[in-house]
Amino acid sequence: MPLKKAAITLVIPNAELLPGYADALRQGWSPNTMVDVSADELAAVEADPQAFLADLTSPGGVIRHADGSETPRLPSRLFWISDGAFCGAIGLRFQPGTEELPHFVPGHIGYSIVPWKQRRGYATAALALILPIARAEGLTRVVVSCDADNEASEKVIVANGGVLIGDVPHDPETGKPKLIFRIAT
Ligand SMILES: CC(C)(COP(=O)(O)OP(=O)(O)OC[C@H]1O[C@@H](n2cnc3c(N)ncnc32)[C@H](O)[C@@H]1OP(=O)(O)O)[C@@H](O)C(=O)NCCC(=O)NCCS
Repeated sequence: MPLKKAAITLVIPNAELLPGYADALRQGWSPNTMVDVSADELAAVEADPQAFLADLTSPGGVIRHADGSETPRLPSRLFWISDGAFCGAIGLRFQPGTEELPHFVPGHIGYSIVPWKQRRGYATAALALILPIARAEGLTRVVVSCDADNEASEKVIVANGGVLIGDVPHDPETGKPKLIFRIAT
């Protein structure tokens, strides 16, 4: 059943919203906030939409890092954010049986809203909706991080009960200072 809060719903990536997703990629939006994957993903969507959706929602595969290296994808739950149209994406990744994350994963939850749907409370609502999903996966608390200068993301985290637990002066992926928060689910 879709998860709904305020004007948005978290939905499993699907064919109905795929044109909106492709349009966002075409406009340069990247679901991965650390590496710009828009061109690669757009090529994959245009080559075979069904295979792209299947790959997005199937476990396994690899994640490409900013330095070009690849690591196996952690177990994850990926949702698209919908207000009727495609608004962005939010994902949860975790290691089963532990709240720890590998050193190359900056947080359990990542999200991005397309520019034309920002400042409507959608990211705040989406994070609130995914916390019970994390809890259902056995996580009583999650780590969420953001660039120290990402005021909007920091507000999203704090609005959802985020407590600052540390900072990283130079994130290995981005080279930028990062804030690390913990949120009880
Ligand atoms: C960060 C991001 C997800 C916020 O999405 P959003 O849907 O616009 O966020 P919300 O509407 O829930 O806004 C949350 C708060 O941030 C504020 N905000 C939103 N955009 C802002 C901006 N560009 N500058 C300053 N504050 C901003 C909102 O006013 C709101 O503040 P309030 O709680 O005081 O009212 C969105 O800007 C985005 O996708 N950015 C690019 C990707 C990214 O940074 N992802 C997070 C990685 S950690």
